[in-house]
Amino acid sequence: MQVLVVGATGQTGKHIVEDLKKRNIAVTAIVRNLEKAQELLPSEVNFVLGDVTQPDTIAEAMSRCSVLICATGAAPSFDFTGPFQVDYQGTKNLVDLAKANNIEHFILVSSLCVSKFFHPLNLFWLILYWKQQAENYIQQSGLTYTIVRPGGLKNEDNTENIVMSSADTLFEGSIPRQKVAQVCVEALFNNEAKNKIVEIVTQPDSNAQTWQELFAGV
Ligand SMILES: NC(=O)c1ccc[n+]([C@@H]2O[C@H](COP(=O)([O-])OP(=O)(O)OC[C@H]3O[C@@H](n4cnc5c(N)ncnc54)[C@H](OP(=O)(O)O)[C@@H]3O)[C@@H](O)[C@H]2O)c1
Repeated sequence: MQVLVVGATGQTGKHIVEDLKKRNIAVTAIVRNLEKAQELLPSEVNFVLGDVTQPDTIAEAMSRCSVLICATGAAPSFDFTGPFQVDYQGTKNLVDLAKANNIEHFILVSSLCVSKFFHPLNLFWLILYWKQQAENYIQQSGLTYTIVRPGGLKNEDNTENIVMSSADTLFEGSIPRQKVAQVCVEALFNNEAKNKIVEIVTQPDSNAQTWQELFAGV
């Protein structure tokens, strides 16, 4: 298995890369800044300079990979096209490339509440709306996918158990980025994760479940 990680230098992406490397899985990382990547990520990762808004920069790397994990996201800015360009058009570009290159499993980090148009997060240039459009495009693509919708992302890991639920059933809560990364990587190895939207948060009083139980419960 050769995994293409897009958004690898992001706060969640770097945990995804680290998890994959701990399992000795070969990783190709699409990065926009080589120096940042070399500073942040394990040295044995194959770095490719690329940008999701320019599919030509990613095509060759994609052709060498069998599965893909996308953890990109537009950074808050005054550019009102950011979420459209990155969270929608960028992901759409990845889906098209994935189809052309017979990618076996496409994992996308999306977000809770994408279906709530009047959510305050949509004040950031309709970011949730554009994420949902990207989700729809993946679902209609014919690719095998897992859409991971986390709650609010935290940098500190915790000892709480993961709650995993189906689309549009969780509307609040948070989860450490480390656990989001784990869910993305585990999805690659679990048939029950295929062609599902999984919403995830952590809760102190939830019961521990195996990965198989978590994915099968959705
Ligand atoms: N913040 C929250 O509470 C929250 C909650 C739910 C879901 N989410 C979503 O979860 C995902 C991960 O969030 P995060 O905070 O861990 O992400 P992040 O740290 O903001 O990282 C985003 C990544 O996307 C990359 N990126 C942005 N534009 C790109 C482009 N045009 N081409 C290629 N790469 C590009 C960035 O590259 P550089 O490193 O070069 O900048 C970075 O690696 C995002 O989709 C986010 O919207 C966030």
